[in-house]
Amino acid sequence: MIKSLQDTVRIADGVDMPRFGLGLYKARAGEEVYRAVRFALDSGYRHIDTATFYGNEEDVGRAIRDSGIAREELFITTKLWPTDFKNAEEVFQKSLASLGGDYIDLYMLHWPGTDETLRYRTWDTLLSLRGKGLIRAAGVSNFTVEQLRDMYKKTGAYPANDQVELHPWNQQRELRKFCLENKISVTAWGPIFHGHLSEEPLMEEIGRKYGKSAAQATLRWHIQNGITVIPKSVKPDRIAANADIFDFELQEEDMKKIDALDGKKMFAWDSAKFDGKVE
Ligand SMILES: NC(=O)c1ccc[n+]([C@@H]2O[C@H](COP(=O)([O-])OP(=O)(O)OC[C@H]3O[C@@H](n4cnc5c(N)ncnc54)[C@H](OP(=O)(O)O)[C@@H]3O)[C@@H](O)[C@H]2O)c1
Repeated sequence: MIKSLQDTVRIADGVDMPRFGLGLYKARAGEEVYRAVRFALDSGYRHIDTATFYGNEEDVGRAIRDSGIAREELFITTKLWPTDFKNAEEVFQKSLASLGGDYIDLYMLHWPGTDETLRYRTWDTLLSLRGKGLIRAAGVSNFTVEQLRDMYKKTGAYPANDQVELHPWNQQRELRKFCLENKISVTAWGPIFHGHLSEEPLMEEIGRKYGKSAAQATLRWHIQNGITVIPKSVKPDRIAANADIFDFELQEEDMKKIDALDGKKMFAWDSAKFDGKVE
């Protein structure tokens, strides 16, 4: 189990990913995202998760440059949206130019998309980017066990990482087991209920027992399960508090109570049907 914000997990040869990062979905481009990233980096965060879809890569890049932290100390991820699969190389180059530096640490297919031929052709592009040293690890997001199996069948390899919706209401046990068995690292998106934390009274109750907040209790549950988390906040007090979870441990009885919440609700689009087109 990790003991600090900067502890890592090895996701590919020589590639170590900090198990705690800052998520940036719905962090508004401009000063909002710039300030959040600057504050997070100043507070010790080293893993930043963005995507072309979030529309904020340029400001993330600006915050990284202004932080003065050496690039090799950071772990930067971004993702390619399915409607961009056809222009993967070009869209990647734009992301790299926006984020700055010479490489992306982990580059992911954001969703599998519905065109399998295109999916695996795009995956080949990621492997070629990796071959050129432009990405350090190639990953996916929102892939189901079935889609991971299919990927292995068609390409002979698994991705380094699968980033999926994962929180106490949607614990992804089958996928976690499959990924563990096949050495695929798992990152939880929506780790604190994807903005619905206040709707789960148990987290507040358990947090109170340890003098911690509902968010801290939830993030601690992930850490004790060995799950990588990227909670999003643009508020300095929350960015700092969310990471302040290394000084307590949830007892077995509380872990079990949280385990029992599984299956209550999920938020993601259906990975088998979603083609990336949004209104
Ligand atoms: N791969 C994918 O398809 C995918 C999908 C969704 C998300 N993601 C990634 O995963 C990251 C995290 O997921 P998410 O943003 O969906 O959900 P989340 O991190 O579970 O929840 C974020 C929400 O919780 C609020 N929040 C943060 N800290 C809090 C606290 N201490 N107490 C109460 N509320 C708090 C945030 O608001 P404030 O900002 O106002 O604090 C925001 O509304 C994303 O930002 C993104 O990087 C990936």
